[in-house]
Amino acid sequence: MRPLVMLLVACGPTTPEGDPAVGWDTLRYGDYIGAGVPKDVWFDLVPPTTSNILDREGDAAGVPSSFNLFTAPNGIDVVGGVTCAGCHVAQLRGEIIIGLGNHRSDYTEVDLSTFEIAGLAVENRYGEDSAEYDAFFPLLRGAEAISDHIVTPFIGVNTAFSMERAAAANRDPQTGAWQDELAFPIPDTILASDVPPWWHLKKKTRLYYTGAGRGNHARLVSQVGLVAIEDAEHYLAIEESMADLLAFAASIEPPVFPADIDSTLADQGAALFTEHCEECHGTYGDDWTYPERIEPLEDIGTDPTYALGFLEGGFTPWLQESFLAQGKGRAIFQPERGYVAPPLDGVWATAPYLHNGSVPDVETLLSSTDRPTAWRRTFNSNDYDLTTMGWQWTPDEAGSGDVEVYDTTITGFGNGGHTYGDVLSDSERAAVMEYLKTL
Ligand code: HEC
Ligand code: HEC
Repeated sequence: MRPLVMLLVACGPTTPEGDPAVGWDTLRYGDYIGAGVPKDVWFDLVPPTTSNILDREGDAAGVPSSFNLFTAPNGIDVVGGVTCAGCHVAQLRGEIIIGLGNHRSDYTEVDLSTFEIAGLAVENRYGEDSAEYDAFFPLLRGAEAISDHIVTPFIGVNTAFSMERAAAANRDPQTGAWQDELAFPIPDTILASDVPPWWHLKKKTRLYYTGAGRGNHARLVSQVGLVAIEDAEHYLAIEESMADLLAFAASIEPPVFPADIDSTLADQGAALFTEHCEECHGTYGDDWTYPERIEPLEDIGTDPTYALGFLEGGFTPWLQESFLAQGKGRAIFQPERGYVAPPLDGVWATAPYLHNGSVPDVETLLSSTDRPTAWRRTFNSNDYDLTTMGWQWTPDEAGSGDVEVYDTTITGFGNGGHTYGDVLSDSERAAVMEYLKTL
C-alpha cells in the first residue's frame, strides 16, 4: 500500500476492504437492485438470451447482461436491473470489455412497457397481495418515478445521476423510506455524462467527474439501488458486497493497445507529455504518480452544466444529510466547481472523450478547432479508429433532432475547453498520441 493511501486510511471514513473474487460474483448475481420481476414471469415474457457475456451459470446465464437474477429480501427469485454491468460493461471492436463504460446506452425514449406488462402478469398470476408482487412493485414504482427525468436528446450519454437524483427526491433522507411527496423539486436540467472506465479506480481517492465522492465509496456506488431498495436498512445491508464489487472493479487492468506502436515516436511524445500534460494527468509506468487534480470550470473551459448541476440545491444537500452520510462508515459527497483530470491509462479505448462524451476521438480532443459541432456514428463497436483513437464519425447538422447525432449545441453537451493540445504542431500531436497508446 502506498504511504499516502495509508495516511488517508488513518484519518477519515474509508471504503471497507473487499474481495475482488467475491465482487465478480456480486456483479453477476448480487442483489443490489432490491426488487425485480419474479423469475417465472420474466422468462415467460423475455426468452433467455444465448450471449451470456458475463459468463454466468444456471438460469442467470439466460438473463441479459444489464439484469441480475437474484433472491429478493422476501425470498422470491426475481430478475432486476439496470445492474452495474448494464452501464459498466461494453463491447469494443467486437470484444466484451468488463469495466469499459457503456458508450451506446439509449435514454432517448424511456419505455416502461416491459415492466408494466410484467406487473399485470404478476397480478394475474399471484394477485396484488402476494409476496411475488411485493418483490416486484418497488421496481415499477421507482421506474415510473424516474422515467420523466432521464430522457436524453440523443443516444450514447448516460443519465445515472439523473436517476439517482429523481429516486432520492422520492425518499426520506433519514429513513430512506419511499414517499410520494417530493423531498426536493427535481430540476429540468438533465445530468448526463459518458461512463468512465473502472480501471481508473486503482488511482483514485475521489469518485466521479467532479471529485465529489469521498469517504466510504461502497456506500456511494450503490446509489442506483435507491430506485427500488426498501429503505436505509436494506441499503446499508448491501454495503459489504459493494466493497467487494469495488475491489473487483479496481483490480481491472486497462486493455492493451491492439496494434503496433512506433516506439521512437512514442518516446518523443513522452517528452512532450511531460512538458504539456503531466502536471494534471500524472506519470505512468511502475512508479506512477497521479495528482488527482481538480481543474476549476473557468480554467478547464469544458461544458460547466454537469458540475453546476450538483451545486444547485436539492440533490446534493439531500445526500449530505441522508443516512449515507451518517456514522462511522459514512460517505462524503462534496462536489467541486470543476472537473478532475482523469488518469489516461487505456485512454485509446474510452472514446468519446470529456465528461460529457462530446468529442469523438483523441485527435480532435487535442486540436480543439477540429472538433465537430454535430457528429454521427454507427454505434457498431467495430467502427473504431485506432489511429485517431475514437469512433469513426461523419459531420452532421446541428439542430436536426436525429437521435444518432451527438449535437454539441444542446445545453450540457458542449465540446469546448481543454485546449492544451492546440499549441502542439501536427507532428508533435502525432507523437503525443503515439505515447498515449502505450498507457
Ligand atoms: C445507469 C447506469 C449506471 C449504473 C447502473 C451504474 N453506474 Fe456507475 N457510473 C455511471 C456513470 C454515468 C458514472 C459517471 C458519473 C460521474 O462520474 O459523475 C458512474 C461512475 C461510477 C464510479 C466512479 C468512477 C470514477 O472514475 O470516478 C464507480 C466506482 C461506479 N460508477 C461504480 C458502479 C457500481 C459498483 C455500480 C453497481 C452497483 C454502478 N456503478 C452502477 C453509470 C452507472
Ligand atoms: C491544466 C490541467 C490539464 C492539462 C495541462 C491537460 N489536461 Fe487533459 N484533462 C484535464 C481535465 C480536467 C480533463 C477532464 C475535463 C472534462 O471532462 O470536462 C481532461 C481530460 C483529458 C482527456 C479526456 C479523458 C477522457 O477519458 O475523457 C484526455 C485524452 C486528455 N485530457 C489528454 C491530455 C493531454 C494529451 C494533455 C497534454 C497535451 C492534457 N490532457 C493536458 C486537465 C488537463
